[in-house]
Amino acid sequence: MSPDSHAIETMLLEERRYEPPPEFAAQANAQPDLYERDWRELWETEGRERLTWFQPFTELLEWEPPYARWYVGGTLNVCFNCVDRHVEAGNGDKVAYHWEGEPAGERYALTFAELQREVVRFANALRGLGVAKGTPVAIYMGMVPELPIAMLACARLGAPHTVVFGGFSADALADRVNDMGCEVLVTQDEGWRRGTPVPLKRNADEALESCPSVGRVVVLQRTGSAVSMRQGRDVSWQDAVSGQPDDSASCPCEPMDAEDLLYLLYTSGTTAKPKGIVHTTAGYLVGVATTHHYVFDVKPDSVYWCAADIGWVTGHSYIVYGPLCNGTTGVLYEGTPDYPDKDRWWEIVERYRVDILYTAPTAIRAHMKWGPEYAQRHDLSSLRLLGSVGEPINPEAWRWYREHIGGDRTPIVDTWWQTETGMILITPLPGVTTLKPGSATKPFPGVDAAVYDERGNEVGPGAGGYLVLRRPWPAMLRGIHNAHDRYVETYWSRYGDVYFAGDGARVDEDGDFWLLGRVDDVMNVSGHRISTIEVESALVDHPHVAEAAVCGRADPQTGQAIVAYVTLKGAEEGSVAMLEELRDHVARKIGPIAKPANVVFTPELPKTRSGKIMRRLLRDVAEQRALGDTTTLADPTVVEEIQQRAEAEKSAE
Ligand code: WT7
Repeated sequence: MSPDSHAIETMLLEERRYEPPPEFAAQANAQPDLYERDWRELWETEGRERLTWFQPFTELLEWEPPYARWYVGGTLNVCFNCVDRHVEAGNGDKVAYHWEGEPAGERYALTFAELQREVVRFANALRGLGVAKGTPVAIYMGMVPELPIAMLACARLGAPHTVVFGGFSADALADRVNDMGCEVLVTQDEGWRRGTPVPLKRNADEALESCPSVGRVVVLQRTGSAVSMRQGRDVSWQDAVSGQPDDSASCPCEPMDAEDLLYLLYTSGTTAKPKGIVHTTAGYLVGVATTHHYVFDVKPDSVYWCAADIGWVTGHSYIVYGPLCNGTTGVLYEGTPDYPDKDRWWEIVERYRVDILYTAPTAIRAHMKWGPEYAQRHDLSSLRLLGSVGEPINPEAWRWYREHIGGDRTPIVDTWWQTETGMILITPLPGVTTLKPGSATKPFPGVDAAVYDERGNEVGPGAGGYLVLRRPWPAMLRGIHNAHDRYVETYWSRYGDVYFAGDGARVDEDGDFWLLGRVDDVMNVSGHRISTIEVESALVDHPHVAEAAVCGRADPQTGQAIVAYVTLKGAEEGSVAMLEELRDHVARKIGPIAKPANVVFTPELPKTRSGKIMRRLLRDVAEQRALGDTTTLADPTVVEEIQQRAEAEKSAE
């Protein structure tokens, strides 16, 4: 095959297979016939049966590319579906969230009936502050129960929200508030992170200096520290809700059109002005609730834990809206996995007998780096399903997760999706799908995904190319807020009426999808287009490696040469011998072409606040350029450290 016949070449082959355990298959929510359903019939049935409507929809879909309208004519309320109807059905005593604060011993359970009362009280409070249907509200909080309560209160009133991740800075908050024109901000005094208070209100005050649209601010007292309160603008949550009625009739759920705005969520990628991704009401809720039911095999007595932050789409869809719509009991944890010690997550799994755990490869690799002994301190036998999202998962991390967390027993669902897609789109169905470590396997039933070359032809089995979606899906974005041209250009200009996801992928002979990372990260070595994930996975395959990131740097001979940044397990330091060993290991796993020209050992990799490796910055380091935009970086000191180590590696050459 000539190097240029494929958009991306793929070379790393993973041979391990995991058949669904028969006992799991027998009881699974998803059965093989789900794949045989006609996509219109599937979404129509799910829409009708999974949600409670005020007015039924009259048409499933109106598709005028690049804009879709789903469940046309239907009216409903998201809060009613997530809260009220469960109480009305007699499930008010069921736990909605087991909340676990970061400081030792702070925990309580919130039932659906209590959740309803809290939501109603807060919705009444918001009304008192002038919030009505259509009023945009910003929410800037940590992982406290009042965060989903605030989101649901907005949904109850028909007020669209934007949740801004509590780890974002004042500037990031101001950009989002201003883009949406928010009139009210809900925040808290401080949050907890690894034992240290995060000054949310102070950041909010700084942001609000440049946010003229915000007239009122609600401040939850979480840590109880004194914060400045501006007279006439700021009110404490506790004062705002005191005396408010909490019966549902005092604040009925606003009937919303299927296509009314539910929320904006800003996604920055790794560069450029954040995009306000538009998610609407009915299609979004059908999409997230349906996938939550089948992909996570949730049962009425499940204790489900998605360990993401609600500030990301993962939390919106799979901590708040999907699980609550399905009446599921969830876990909500405020803090970091290593506080007070590195077994905190496993203590939580044991305490609540969690049966479904959903997290990200970056977290799995952190646990891998710390070692399995922390998980071994706890009884994890309640777990029956594990999930992964956010990045391609390296096969070794997949195997570690299954062995040390899943007791070599649990299926793992590697779920591919995006802020833009709203819902999981490529995923195994546990109990149906044969799993391959590193593959997200098949499009969810009803979803039409494919891999195209540069010219828009579908590429054959084994060849790499660009991931596209050829048919609308209910939770798809309805645009970018106030940016039609950017919407068209980013997602719909490359292949006409086909959605371009921006990810590389290949499909194997069995029709299984292997995600190859963002298209911008692909390297070109001697005319071979090589994906970063394959070289990284070959490195992580080495028993001493916990985590690796690779990128290309300009090279006069080969066009680009591969630079690898490697974190070893435990506290091991790199050596020249290890460096050679790793280069040989990659050559053996993939081929000499993929051998890194340089290896830099580093205790940490630069990541976005959502845990994605920022290869763009590694390219800057590798090419000894001034660093590009670092505002989305979680910990800026990491890059400085890597720069120093890269210098040292150069001078040792
Ligand atoms: C990008 C979307 C989806 C919720 C969290 C991230 C990457 C996501 C996978 C996966 C390989 C994945 C893609 C995608 N990604 N899940 N299972 N395998 N890559 O949402 O911040 O919008 O990021 O994350 O590159 O495009 P997001």
